Amino acid sequence: MPKEESAATHAFWLAGRQATGEAAFDVTSPWDGRVVGTVSVPSDAQVEEAVAAAYAVRDEFAATPAHVRAAALDHVSRRLVERTEEIARLISAENGKPIKWARGEVGRAVSVFRFAAEEARRFNGGEAQRLDTDAGGQGRLAFTRRFPKGVVLGIAPFNFPLNLCAHKIAPAIAAGAPIVLKPAPATPLSGLILGELLAETELPAGSWSILPVPNDRMPALVQDERLPVISFTGSEQVGYAIMDSVPRKHCTLELGGNGAAVVLADWASDEDLDWAASRIATFSNYQGGQSCISVQRVIVDASVHDRLLPRIVAAVEAQVTGDPADDATDVGPLVSQAAAERVEAWVQEAVDAGATLLTGGKRDGASYAPTVLTDVPADVTISCEEVFGPVLTVQKVDGEAAAFAAVNDSRYGLQAGVFTHDLQTAFRAHRALEVGGVVVGDVPSYRADQMPYGGAKQSGVGREGVRFAMDDYTYERVMVLTGLAL
Ligand code: SIN
Repeated sequence: MPKEESAATHAFWLAGRQATGEAAFDVTSPWDGRVVGTVSVPSDAQVEEAVAAAYAVRDEFAATPAHVRAAALDHVSRRLVERTEEIARLISAENGKPIKWARGEVGRAVSVFRFAAEEARRFNGGEAQRLDTDAGGQGRLAFTRRFPKGVVLGIAPFNFPLNLCAHKIAPAIAAGAPIVLKPAPATPLSGLILGELLAETELPAGSWSILPVPNDRMPALVQDERLPVISFTGSEQVGYAIMDSVPRKHCTLELGGNGAAVVLADWASDEDLDWAASRIATFSNYQGGQSCISVQRVIVDASVHDRLLPRIVAAVEAQVTGDPADDATDVGPLVSQAAAERVEAWVQEAVDAGATLLTGGKRDGASYAPTVLTDVPADVTISCEEVFGPVLTVQKVDGEAAAFAAVNDSRYGLQAGVFTHDLQTAFRAHRALEVGGVVVGDVPSYRADQMPYGGAKQSGVGREGVRFAMDDYTYERVMVLTGLAL
């Protein structure tokens, strides 16, 4: 395929400055296969240079005044606003994400950097604890502050190629921890753009690098003792392989999910059901279902099931599929043809095992049609695994307890949505559901970037969300003052 006229070889960011290596690879559009850009790959020596620089600057960076780090983060936030359309077009081109969702992603990254600036200003104010509650502590005060654990190795996925890079970088800068970030091989360009904006700031050289290191060279970085913190977003298999290979490191893993939306008996008016159907259809298909919190499983009380199901099918069929660059498009291609073929195989397996296909079920290259399945056997792949595609299954249950048990009948536990008006039910759901987040009155796909985000069970370890990631990147160090007149 020809390169776009604007396609250029993109340098990477080594210790805050642009650099190129000897090798390069093409980034192609999953929609039409055109080359969106060519990305230079750092050599082993350049990776070593970045790690050494990050390690060398760690004390200086931790001591950088909060206003310097906050100003840099505010700068990136403002520049993202100014370059929104250009960056959204880039996300859409390299990822296949419809432009309207890509614009939304840039808007979220704007907020992530702004939140991080705010958190940088208030983080680490210190907490005092009097120790004279026992005779041995008379005249003593414990004073606690948080300090970075060391250099962070961030590993980002393809599905939110800008914002999930932002979720690694911004909290690290806010906490004063240097970071070496590896964007996803399929979508490195959006992450590299952040380097352009960070390079306009006064942050110390070495405090950040963005290196498109190929996956097969990552084990050496993962093992590197100068990188004690690993923040990974991606597949369950890779995440746990990383953690198992470095059990003494601090790993945050944001892994898969098979998000459930529960619709309970009291969510029963026509307006209620229209809203639920529209939210379910939209968030089962946004980004082609390639979000860890997209709606995969719809669990519906029997009393509303027959009125909801046709509404869901109609709303799914109303999703506009096609060219991601088109403003009207709701659902574009998946990240690759191989990804669409996997989804196709899983749907076929379910249908062969007795599932009913209500709509969709067709693949065209990397695109897969928005799909609804019912009567899906519990043991087929699509019932057990994360589909990461535009497919939802509908399951009828009798009552709240059965609905909550169905949500928990999964090895994943990222987020769940519960459509109910009843506050007591909401609290029971919050208690019963084994997930990192319960969204009441909406789908599981709601994520505000400042709130804690992460999984229970096999969906991961630790939390993101700006301040929560800062907690993760730092540890508490106590100072005991003695001889005080308390
Ligand atoms: C993810 O896929 O885990 C990220 C979802 C989001 O940030 O909305």
